[in-house]
Amino acid sequence: MIIIKSAKEIEMMRRPGRIVGEVLAEVSEKVKVGVTTQELDALAEELILRRGAKPAFKGYRGYPSTLCTSVNEEVVHGIPSRRKLREGDILSIDLGVFSQGYYGDAAVTLPVGNISKEAQGLIESTKRSLYKGIEAAVAGNRLYDVSFAVQKQAEGDGYSVVRDFVGHGIGTSLHEEPQVPNYGSPGKGPLLKVGMVLAIEPMINMKGYDVRVTGDDWTVVTVDGSLSAHFEHTVAIGSNGAVILTSI
Ligand code: MF3
Ligand code: CO
Repeated sequence: MIIIKSAKEIEMMRRPGRIVGEVLAEVSEKVKVGVTTQELDALAEELILRRGAKPAFKGYRGYPSTLCTSVNEEVVHGIPSRRKLREGDILSIDLGVFSQGYYGDAAVTLPVGNISKEAQGLIESTKRSLYKGIEAAVAGNRLYDVSFAVQKQAEGDGYSVVRDFVGHGIGTSLHEEPQVPNYGSPGKGPLLKVGMVLAIEPMINMKGYDVRVTGDDWTVVTVDGSLSAHFEHTVAIGSNGAVILTSI
């Protein structure tokens, strides 16, 4: 069952959403050559606690950190560590926040110093695919119109869409129904209605779409070692289209 939120509930979701956006913006400014992903994680946690909110991922199924920091061929769920960022890396930062009984969830992929044209192209296409998905998240459309919009952009640009991980409904739980795949057939899937809140999160690979989980039981990497990018927003379906709750 897909939970419909009242206007009041969506107002409540603005706070965790705003905190996600603010913290991602501040952490993004610190992404530079030589910084460790652990340092970024500590900063994110401090900023969240200072706002009287809680990191949503820390402790979720035993996940150890506030951020997911996924570098280069890492797709999602990279664990912050003493790894220093290097010139030419791309870094995906995913952040969830809990506040006022509700969750917000968003992700961005950023360049570290100067990056290749190829890497820049992948980042731009992934971001564009997210916004195409958001544009399709309107009442009266069907869920897989969103999925198809993401897929069309990413595959049209020559990239591939990760199959094994998906976006999700979000509210008083981090993950609610429905699952939001980043590929699908237009005109199919559940009818989208005003009051649905979705975390749309394309994970797009430079080469093949196959991924695997590494030995730490969290980090997801591309099987072929090619680069991967990830963008995410939490959006509420309103009567005038989707409203981004996690604006950066
Ligand atoms: N944005 C991801 C998701 O919605 C991040 C989850 S990380 C986890 O699944 F640690 F919480 F699992
Ligand atoms: Co998510």
